Parts: sequence; C-alpha cells; structure tokens
Amino acid sequence: MEERKIPQHVAIILDGNGRWAKAKGMPRNYGHMQGAKAVENILFDADELGIKYLTVYAFSTENWNRPQAEVAALMKILEQYLKSSIKKSMKNNVRCRVIGERSKLSPAIQAAVNDLEEATKNNTGLTFTIAINYGSRDEITRAVRKVAKRVQNGELDADSITEEDINNSLDTGFMPDPDLMIRTCGEQRVSNFLLWQLAYTEFYYTDIAWPDFDRNELEKAIDAYNHRTRRFGGLKKGEE
Ligand code: IPE
Ligand code: IPE
Ligand code: MG
Repeated sequence: MEERKIPQHVAIILDGNGRWAKAKGMPRNYGHMQGAKAVENILFDADELGIKYLTVYAFSTENWNRPQAEVAALMKILEQYLKSSIKKSMKNNVRCRVIGERSKLSPAIQAAVNDLEEATKNNTGLTFTIAINYGSRDEITRAVRKVAKRVQNGELDADSITEEDINNSLDTGFMPDPDLMIRTCGEQRVSNFLLWQLAYTEFYYTDIAWPDFDRNELEKAIDAYNHRTRRFGGLKKGEE
C-alpha cells in the first residue's frame, strides 16, 4: 500500500456552530464556545498527524453584519482564545499568526494578537494561522494598495509587477498555499476565504457541524485527499 500523503497546509472554514447549538436547543453562542474547543483539539491532532500549516477562518469581514450581541460574544471568545494560546503554543512549539484587517479590532484583541505572535514567533513546529476580520477581497485590495505605493515611490515599475509581488503583499505571504480546504456543515461555497491562495487547492466538504469535527473527521478528509489526483494545469509523468 502506498504511504498516506499528509497535506502540508490545511485550511478550514469552520462552519455550523449556530446550527449545531440550535439543534440542541441551545443559544448560538454556546455553539461558538464549543467551536473554540474544537479548534484547540484539532490543532493538536493536526500537529500529531504531521500537518505543517493549519489555517482557520474564525471571523469574516462580513460577520460584522451579525447581531451585535453575537459579534460581541465572538470577540470575547476570540480574545480569550488568543490569550490562552500563548502557553499551549509554547508547550507544543506552535507558531501562531493572525491574518485579516486588524485596525477594526478592539485594542484588547489587537494587543492579544501582537502578544501571541511575538511570543511564538521563533517556534519551529506547526504554523497555526487564525483569520480574524478576514475577507479575501479586502486582503487583495490592501495588497494592491501596497504594490501601488511601491510603484508610486518609484521602487517598482508597473509593467514588471509579478504574481510573486502580489503574493508577497497578501497577509499570507509567509506561507505556502493550502493543499486541502475543508468546510464543515454542508455549505459548499468559499465565503470570501483565500480566493487567490486556493487556486489549486483540493476542496473537501462534510455535513458534520464544526463543534463535532474531531480527529476522526480530519482523518476522513485526509483520506479523501489521498484519493484525489492533484494536477496543476499540466500533465504528470506517464500521462502524456
Ligand atoms: C461558524 O459558525 C462560526 C462563524 C462564522 C463565526 P456559524 O456561526 O456560521 O454557524 P451557522 O453557519 O450559522 O450554523
Ligand atoms: C464563513 O462562514 C466565515 C467563517 C467561518 C468565519 P459564514 O457562516 O459566515 O458564511 P456564509 O454566510 O454562510 O457564507
Ligand atoms: Mg455559518
């Protein structure tokens, strides 16, 4: 039997916290609390399985449109998560990063993000990235601004802008593109997540709601990934 391939970078749209809670007769925010626990567990499992980059979509630029009380609860959970992550990340050699537009986040969350990134920056194990106030269109717009400024300053010639210039100007410039993208709870859309970076990523959808997504479910996703024939527009040796 061929050895199982472990995707280097797994990105997850963790969806269904609200529906999961509702099905149990509980408030949506209970689902978000359980969802945060599921993130903590899956991070540990991903590390054990040999995944090098794990990226999770925690709060989108569109999620501000939710009821104010839900946004406040999500922000509180995120703040606590970021703060409690320092100790665990140091113990497990995890490097944490946050992508998304930060200026709209509260000063307390911005400080927690900075503290976490700073404390874990020299860790050499799994890179764990949390997308907060992240929207791919917003990210690309900000990247275009950065590149335009370089052109304006005379550092770069407009005609010689490369894909690499754009890529390096994205929030994700420090990591490789995802190999596998997982979305839980039935929806099959990207919801403004990593539009540029998912160009050749394999997609996996499951009906399992995020709070129930565990190691067994992650292994199922990896098994499905192992049955895919990856192509990047060309042909493989022997296919010609
Ligand atoms: C995912 O669960 C968490 C966030 C988007 C913040 P949802 O809150 O989207 O739950 P559903 O999709 O409404 O069930
Ligand atoms: C996507 O989930 C955003 C996050 C997981 C943070 P949503 O639940 O917000 O997406 P839509 O509204 O179903 O597309
Ligand atoms: Mg949802």
